[in-house]
Amino acid sequence: IRNNYLKKIDELKKHNKLYFENSSPVISDKDYDQIKKDILNLEKKFSYLKDESSPSVSLGYTPSKNFIKSKHRVKMLSLSNAFDTKDLENFEKKIFNYLNKKIEVEYSVEPKIDGISASLTYKNGLLIMGTSRGDGTTGEVITENLKTIKDIPQKIISKDFPRDIDIRGEVFIKRSEFDKLKNDFANPRNAASGSLRQKNPEQTKKIPLKYFIYGFGIIEPMIFKTQLDFLTKISEWGFSVNPNNKIVRGLDEIEKHHNFMEESRSSLDYDIDGLVYKINNLDLQSRLGNTSSSPRWAVAYKFSSEKAITKIKNIIIQVGRTGAITPVAKVEPVTVGGVVVSNATLHNEDEIKRKDIRIGDTITIQRAGDVIPQVVSVDKLKRNKNSVKFVFPEKCLCGSKTQKEINNSTNKEDAVRRCTRGYDCSFIAREKLKHIVSKEAFNIDGLGKKVIDQFWDLKL
Ligand code: IVH
Repeated sequence: IRNNYLKKIDELKKHNKLYFENSSPVISDKDYDQIKKDILNLEKKFSYLKDESSPSVSLGYTPSKNFIKSKHRVKMLSLSNAFDTKDLENFEKKIFNYLNKKIEVEYSVEPKIDGISASLTYKNGLLIMGTSRGDGTTGEVITENLKTIKDIPQKIISKDFPRDIDIRGEVFIKRSEFDKLKNDFANPRNAASGSLRQKNPEQTKKIPLKYFIYGFGIIEPMIFKTQLDFLTKISEWGFSVNPNNKIVRGLDEIEKHHNFMEESRSSLDYDIDGLVYKINNLDLQSRLGNTSSSPRWAVAYKFSSEKAITKIKNIIIQVGRTGAITPVAKVEPVTVGGVVVSNATLHNEDEIKRKDIRIGDTITIQRAGDVIPQVVSVDKLKRNKNSVKFVFPEKCLCGSKTQKEINNSTNKEDAVRRCTRGYDCSFIAREKLKHIVSKEAFNIDGLGKKVIDQFWDLKL
C-alpha cells in the first residue's frame, strides 16, 4: 500500500513540475485530478500514509527557486485591531491625548479584504517593480506575476502622476472565481497567494486576480492632502479602488456604518473581515506617526462574527454521548470567513419551533471563532409556499423513546430531548467511546474519532 502511495506521490510531483514550472503538462486536467483523488482516498483509508507533497498537506505548488528579495523604501506596516465600541473609544482617546485636544475626526473607511498585500513602484509613469509584503521590511520581487493582473496598469500617461511613487493594495480573488477552484485551495486567500507566488507568471494569469489600492509608500512630489484625495486621483489614473470606500465623522457614524457593512458583507463578491478606519487628513496622519508595527492613525475594526446566506437542504438529528438529540441543518456549502461550511447547528427542538426553521428555507448562518456555525435568522419572504413545518422526531436514531427531563433546580422541562436507552443505544455508546479516547479524557494518541468509527463499523 505504501509503495503504491509513494508511486502516486512521485507521479504528482512530476506532473506538478511539468505543469507549474515548465508550463508543458503531458496529461489532462482530469487525469491529474484523478491522481490527487487517489492519493487523498488512500490517506483516508490508511491513516499511516503521509507525505509532505500530498495535496492534503501542500496547497498548490511551492516554487522551487526563491524569488529575489527587495527592501521596501517605506515599511509595509500592519494594523492594530478593534473588536468593539470600547476599543474604538480607546483608539480615539489615544489620538486626542497625542494631539492634546478633542476634535471631530474625519475617517476614510475601507473594507478590509482578506487577501495578499502588494506594493507597486512606478517611476516616470512606468511600473518598474512589484513586491509582496514579506515581513513588512523586505518583500519578494513578483513584478511579472503582478503584471498579469488586469487592474494593474503598466504605464500611466498623465501629467500630474507623481514622478516616483509606491502604490499599495490588496490582491484577492472574487468568491465567484474561487467557487471554480474550491477543490484546490482551502480558502480564497490561499488561492490568491498560491497564484501570485507561482514561479511562472503564465500560471498566475490562469487565476483571475483583482487588486484594490488602499495606500502608498513613497510619493515624489507629494500632491495629496487627504486619503480621499489619494483614492480619487488613483482611480482617475486607471487603478481600481473599492467602490464601498466612504468618509465618516465621529464614533457614532463609525458604529452606524459598521453595522450596515456587517449586514451587507455576505452580498459582496469577496471576503472582508472588518473595516479599516484611517484619519483622512494626511497632515494629521504624519503628526501622529507610527508605532514599530502599526500606524497610530488607523485601526482595523473587525466584525464580531462571520455571516453568510445559504439554503437548508435537510435537517437531520445527531445523538451525543449524553443522549442529547441535536438537530443539524445540512446546508448548501457556503464560504463563511474563508471556511466552507455545510452544517449548522439548530441547538434543540424549541429553537426550531421558535424560529420556525424549515427544510428549503433561506437562512443566515454565523460562525464566530471556532464554534460550530449557527442559524441566525430565516428569510421567510423567500420561503416556498408548499413548505411544511419541521416535525421533530420523537424517537432516537436507535429507535428508542426520547424524553425531556425535568430540571432539578428550576423544576421546568429541559429544552434538550434525550434518548432513554443509555449505553444500550449504539449511537450513545459510540460517542462515549470517542469521548474516552479524546484530548478531554484519556488523550490516546493515534486512537481518535475516525478510528473509533472504523472499529465500530467493523464490529470490533
Ligand atoms: S492599510 C499602514 N487598508 O490588512 C497601513 N490595509 O493588517 C497598513 N488590508 O497588510 C495597511 N485592506 O494587507 C490597509 N483598506 C486597507 C486594507 C488593508 C486590507 C490588509 C493589508 C495589510 C493588512 C494589515
